[in-house]
Amino acid sequence: MTADPIPPGSDPRASVRQRVFVVGAGIMGSGVAAQCALAGYPVTLEDISEELARRGLANATRALEHAAQKGTIGAGEKEAALARIDVAIGLRRADAAQIVVEAAPEDLRLKREVFRDLEDATHPAALLASNTSSLPITSIAENLRDPGRVVGLHFFNPVLQMGLIELIPGHRTRPEIVERARAFGASLGKTIVTSRDTPGFVTTRALAVLLNEAVWMLYEGVATKEDIDTAYRLGFHHPMGPFELADLVGLDTALAILDVLWEGFHDPRYRACPLLRTMVAAKQLGRKTGEGFYIYPSREGRA
Ligand SMILES: NC(=O)c1ccc[n+]([C@@H]2O[C@H](COP(=O)([O-])OP(=O)(O)OC[C@H]3O[C@@H](n4cnc5c(N)ncnc54)[C@H](O)[C@@H]3O)[C@@H](O)[C@H]2O)c1
Repeated sequence: MTADPIPPGSDPRASVRQRVFVVGAGIMGSGVAAQCALAGYPVTLEDISEELARRGLANATRALEHAAQKGTIGAGEKEAALARIDVAIGLRRADAAQIVVEAAPEDLRLKREVFRDLEDATHPAALLASNTSSLPITSIAENLRDPGRVVGLHFFNPVLQMGLIELIPGHRTRPEIVERARAFGASLGKTIVTSRDTPGFVTTRALAVLLNEAVWMLYEGVATKEDIDTAYRLGFHHPMGPFELADLVGLDTALAILDVLWEGFHDPRYRACPLLRTMVAAKQLGRKTGEGFYIYPSREGRA
């Protein structure tokens, strides 16, 4: 293990030289990698196969190119960010990182395994953050030797465009780790809100009900998906309708979140609509599979 420990309360700008290791190169991992590289961090983007890791890098590249086309970043910034990202398969190279962001699928068993492996693969002083949208951080870290180094850092999709990070200290997270996570989030230019460690935190709990209610309305034939999307957009000033958003988030992730909330609270507010479950079983997961509530014919349209 080669990484140096980071002094507590260190200047966030100094942290720019720290290496970030991102676990899971899907929708969120690729966005987090692009954002960290843009802020000056060297980043390793990891997945379970070379094909998946390369696909994540391609998505990160697309996100940075999109930002450059829109003029929110310069062409030079884009090139410099891309040069800071490399890819890996498995956790072998995680020992060089001071900050790890886990963005594997929303499955408690899987995340527990990933964190057990990370505990062995990383320097003991490295900060271990989970990008979970709903799972309690304390549960993810339950079987670790040192649960004090695990914290929730919930990014939003698309990462480059969204200005918020939800910070979730677990029950055992050390205050020094919480402050390092806060400084890291701020160094990415994000605004941080802090939530207690309960299922779904603040944002996911609110979003889950909003999306699920839209699916129930479609299921009951209250209105078409197009009209429900238009109603949310124009009626509430939402930038996207709930079905457009569900397709962006991924229907499997949306369903997993509702199931976590149901398990955590046993409140019928969080009972997933059967239509959502059927669509997930049919692998209509949204943009990432090319079909969800809407159809995305070309690879370009996918996340
Ligand atoms: N999709 C969203 O809008 C969104 C927003 C905020 C947070 N999140 C959270 O981020 C996390 C990732 O979600 P996503 O939408 O990017 O999912 P995704 O399905 O797009 O990507 C997950 C990636 O993790 C990889 N993976 C699976 N097992 C792995 C392992 N053992 N080690 C390393 N990689 C592994 C998969 O191959 C896949 O590439 C979830 O916890 C989710 O709840 C998602």
